[in-house]
Amino acid sequence: MKEWAEENHLIITEARGSFLKDITGKWYIDGVSSIWVTVHGHRKKEINDAIKEQVDKISHSTLLGLTHPPAAILAEKLVKLIQKSLGSRSGRGERPFAPELSRVFYSDNGSTAVEIALKMAFQYWRHKGIKGKKTFLSLNNGYHGDTIGAVSVGGIDLFHNIFSPLLFKTYKAPSPYCYRCELGKKLRSCRLFCLQAMEKIMNKHQKEIAALIIEPFVQGAGGMIVAPAGYLEQVRKLCSKYGILMIADEVATGFGRTGKMFACEHESVSPDILCIAKGITGGYLPLAATITTEDIYRAFLGEFRELKTFFHGHTYTGNQLACAAAIANIDLFKKEKTLQKMQKKIEILRKELDKTKELHHVGDIRQKGFMAGIELVKNKKTKEPYPFEERMGWKVCLKARENGVIIRPLGDVVVLMPPLSISQQELKSLVRITAEAVRVVTG
Ligand SMILES: Cc1ncc(COP(=O)(O)O)c(C=O)c1O
Repeated sequence: MKEWAEENHLIITEARGSFLKDITGKWYIDGVSSIWVTVHGHRKKEINDAIKEQVDKISHSTLLGLTHPPAAILAEKLVKLIQKSLGSRSGRGERPFAPELSRVFYSDNGSTAVEIALKMAFQYWRHKGIKGKKTFLSLNNGYHGDTIGAVSVGGIDLFHNIFSPLLFKTYKAPSPYCYRCELGKKLRSCRLFCLQAMEKIMNKHQKEIAALIIEPFVQGAGGMIVAPAGYLEQVRKLCSKYGILMIADEVATGFGRTGKMFACEHESVSPDILCIAKGITGGYLPLAATITTEDIYRAFLGEFRELKTFFHGHTYTGNQLACAAAIANIDLFKKEKTLQKMQKKIEILRKELDKTKELHHVGDIRQKGFMAGIELVKNKKTKEPYPFEERMGWKVCLKARENGVIIRPLGDVVVLMPPLSISQQELKSLVRITAEAVRVVTG
């Protein structure tokens, strides 16, 4: 806070497409999609219009005991979208590890979507008469939000350690962080090592573990850590083998970020519970959903006196304006062929990032779709990190800002997460300005 108070602040007053404008009139590329939310760009006509149309009818009515058309229409769209991406009963063929997600529970941000998933998993087992399942398995370097339940399943020491006396007990599996794998070897050994360690925990504690929670394919806030191919699919199999529910936290990866609508789609995995937020409204308004299977939904059905109610609800849950924005956002994916157009841009991003590999202090470059991280190191050979106090990642971002790019680091990992709608030329400029900032600052 001391440093923040001493800094010069950038005051954003306007935006258009992939750009943000500050109070002095200077424009910047929004290189992290305003913290990973902007999908079709700022001031997208269709989303603006949907919100304007909705605001003239009603902005908010509670979902506690009532409902409204935008929430119902959106729920149907979400289920269709998810089933198309992750599999439906009719279209899923012989895939044995593909529960069908069909029930939507709204909330208003990623952390609450996760809290709901955790409570839902815990209560599910209670309703099934299994009392021992009262803890969770999560991953080192995992991030699921800042509320206490989400922090309990978090695995980033820097953010989470101070709160440890407040947290409930969880088991932690290794992070598939191949660049710094405990074995220090290749992708395949890293995958095997992580999976074996995870299975060991599951085998020993399956009676206690209600669910595993994971960020599919990319551990975002942990440093854009991309899991090796085949890892996620095996995690799904392990959950099924040991009777542990799988919660996929797609708050960051959902809505096209990794090049598919949902990251689980890369390995044809369907979780038992899916958390979505961030990109759901295209970056306009706070909204989230926790989506689950008929089996879990049915476990909560009962007579009034049986108290099977899921006691959880937030005031702005399923807000009407946010739902209207989300409907327009989803419709735009089809109308603009967003995912198809993105594939070429993912390749451009890869090629541009490749060029930065030669820089003296770039240790690792990780990318899945439009989620990318450049890990800066003091010593490329030994992978020795910079001292924490040097704030190297931050310095690089400040330099990039001077040249018209807004990005935000995760420690010494410089993050690039542009809007999916960014043009090829803007994308090239984003990477080139960032690379130049890395070169100038790190030498
Ligand atoms: C994977 C993941 N889960 C949950 C959250 C928390 O979302 P929110 O900040 O909307 O609470 C985040 C936020 O970055 C995230 O990346």
